[in-house]
Amino acid sequence: MARNVALRRAAPPAVVGLALLLGAMTVGYAWVVARHLRDDARETSRLLGRVFAGLNDPHPDAATEALLDLARQVRSLGIPIVVTDTAGRITALDNAPPGVAADPARLGAWIARLDRENLPLVQPGVGTIHYGALPVAQRFIGLAALQGAVFFCLVVLAVWAYRSQVAAARDRLWAAMARESAHQLGTPLMSLTGWIAYLRDNPDTTAAEVASHLQADAERLERVAKRFERIGRPARREPIGLGAVAERVVSYFRPRLPTLASPVTLSLAATGPGPTALGDSVLVEWALEAVIKNAIDALSGRGGRIDVAVEATARTARVTVRDDGPGVAPDVRAQLFEPGVSTKPGGWGIGLALARRIVEQQHAGRSGVRAGIPAGEREVSLALNPAQEAAVRYPGGPLLVLAGAGSGKTRVLTARIAYLIQERGVAPARIFAVTFTNKAAGEMRARVATLLGADPRGLWIGTFHALSARLLRREAALLGFGPNFTIYDQDDSESFIKRLLEQRGLSPKAYPPRAIHAIISGAKNRMLLPE
Ligand SMILES: Nc1ncnc2c1ncn2[C@@H]1O[C@H](COP(=O)(O)OP(=O)(O)OP(=O)(O)O)[C@@H](O)[C@H]1O
Ligand SMILES: [Mg+2]
Repeated sequence: MARNVALRRAAPPAVVGLALLLGAMTVGYAWVVARHLRDDARETSRLLGRVFAGLNDPHPDAATEALLDLARQVRSLGIPIVVTDTAGRITALDNAPPGVAADPARLGAWIARLDRENLPLVQPGVGTIHYGALPVAQRFIGLAALQGAVFFCLVVLAVWAYRSQVAAARDRLWAAMARESAHQLGTPLMSLTGWIAYLRDNPDTTAAEVASHLQADAERLERVAKRFERIGRPARREPIGLGAVAERVVSYFRPRLPTLASPVTLSLAATGPGPTALGDSVLVEWALEAVIKNAIDALSGRGGRIDVAVEATARTARVTVRDDGPGVAPDVRAQLFEPGVSTKPGGWGIGLALARRIVEQQHAGRSGVRAGIPAGEREVSLALNPAQEAAVRYPGGPLLVLAGAGSGKTRVLTARIAYLIQERGVAPARIFAVTFTNKAAGEMRARVATLLGADPRGLWIGTFHALSARLLRREAALLGFGPNFTIYDQDDSESFIKRLLEQRGLSPKAYPPRAIHAIISGAKNRMLLPE
């Protein structure tokens, strides 16, 4: 483990060193090659001078001498050359690798290799010329290999740099999230501590006076805990009333706005608890809070107004936050939603990054700042699927919905309840929602409350047993009972039957109470009265 870490730490500097070394070698090598080429050019030019001098010399052998000189010079360039005559005999051989000339078999193989490199030239009167590459070409191949190695090192470095940048962004996000959680928990905790101190100082305070404040703080703490629990998971898809969510966020901020110097006003334009969108109310609330917080920050010290609007279009819902502050600084506009981008002293740049994650990744919505409007603006778009929408808005009487596990039955039911109350004006007391378990009933009630933005008083939501008991207590007077009756379960009923049998001197052995209980139950099912 430790060795691995040490290795990983040492690897990038080692690669940098290697790249520098290879780069320096490439430069040196290229310089040497250039020098060689320059020397070759000088030698060739000098030779040309001598050839011309020989041709102009009136001495009869001078021209031949010049040509021989030329041939020598060409050989000295280092090009491997073999000349064969028409019979295949070697008439000239130059720059062969050592030992090849003496060994006919190796000589034949070498000539074949030259022919593969370059097609042989046929020169009438001389024969066939087989030739190889200039030595400088070999040097170029070396140079190319060196450059390849440097390039490889650079690619390795680029990948490493990219990965460490991603890791750094993740670390920043991490640290910012930790700070954000501490910050969000801190506010209600501080308030709670304040109330405790107040109670200490004023021991005569009645509980009722502070209970609602304490409860508000506790609720806030609970909400914050829920946020951090849910941000890392796929978002829930429950119907949420965006108007109700916006109302909650706005009422959270209102008492906290600056009112004396540089006052900030916060207004909400929404037509009610709706429109309904599918999502996680805890997270959407968080996103909206981050955006409104930014608007408040932007207006701090100068005052101004913030307008929050909730609108519904045909298939989407939109929440807009607009402030008349200075607008987004041009140099951060392009990366506004990146984590760590902030113009505030002590800002972590986490607010908008979180909001975008919530809206775009967790709710498949869109978010953005509108160009030209000098203010932060957010859009949240969420929707029910068409079949669910149809079930929720069904206008007729009975409707049977068949839906598998996890397909959103509770979502449809709660959205329908909210729809009936909000848009069809049905009184909550006329809605009866029955389910099997207490847990499901509690969940349903909570969701309807979220949708409506308030606990729907009088709504009948519960299990068969709870709702029946409620009905019985309400209507008991019709049967001549008071509302304080006790409901017997199976065991209670059986021991009651046993007691009755004993009173009549009958043996429970001969008349098993369980059998009698079953007979009575059967009679009740067939609506048979005791007579
Ligand atoms: N309504 C706005 N008006 C002007 N600038 C804004 C507005 N909203 C956001 N910005 C700019 O976008 C930047 C990023 O916002 P973001 O909420 O991501 O981080 P932050 O507010 O700086 O820090 P944090 O939210 O983590 O405390 C801000 O620093 C600010 O420059
Ligand atoms: Mg912010």
